[in-house]
Amino acid sequence: MQKEKYNYRYDFIDEGKAVHIIDATGVNLFLLVGSKRGLLIDTGQCKDDLRSLCDELCSDYDVVNTHGHFDHVVADYQFDKIYVSDNDLPLLKQVYGGSLGFETESLNDGQLFDLGDRKVKAIALPGHTSGSFGFLDMDRRILYSGDSLMRNVSLQHIGNLGPLGYRATLVRLLSEYGNDFDYAIPAHGHRAFGFRPLEKEYISKMIDCIDSVDLSRCVVIGSNEFGDILRFVADGKKYEDYDSVSVEFSRP
Ligand SMILES: [Fe+2]
Repeated sequence: MQKEKYNYRYDFIDEGKAVHIIDATGVNLFLLVGSKRGLLIDTGQCKDDLRSLCDELCSDYDVVNTHGHFDHVVADYQFDKIYVSDNDLPLLKQVYGGSLGFETESLNDGQLFDLGDRKVKAIALPGHTSGSFGFLDMDRRILYSGDSLMRNVSLQHIGNLGPLGYRATLVRLLSEYGNDFDYAIPAHGHRAFGFRPLEKEYISKMIDCIDSVDLSRCVVIGSNEFGDILRFVADGKKYEDYDSVSVEFSRP
């Protein structure tokens, strides 16, 4: 049953092994709770008292950023130390106006966080940003994927690797870890249907989506410093469809 405290809604998932925390703007954070310590994945985009909530849910825990975008890091300042990739550290500093009032430590591909009863592996997933990471709860077979695996993946912000760079990440993820998890849990849900995990098969669907991009069938959804932003939806579906797969990228 969903509870509410400090302006966050939260719920225990994965048979009580993790807490799904939703900030006031709907961004999804996850606190994995192990027998020895926990791991907080992202801090969201609100300045409510996330620290007190997490301290009440778990006595000792590390804090990681899936990437450096604003909506994942705003409450970082409440914690003593944040693990973030070197590649996304400049993005994080940008959010905080240049200087951070907290310690950071480099996140490395393959790095293990020992929760006691299980281990969580940090996996580099460059694409959405160059320093994006996912976190594989190895015993629970769940990949917490931030913005790197979503029904609609955005490759439009500064630091993105474009569709082909992102595709290479997906291929590597499947070949190296495809047997190690059953589903991914992204940081954002569908605008209409809300939060939901993504089946592993979704990764192959996204690769197919990128392979079938047809510029004549893309829709312009906006523009930024790189020019037009295009969206391509696979299989002739509509973006709003529950099971659609789509990718957004700058016009090549
Ligand atoms: Fe993002």
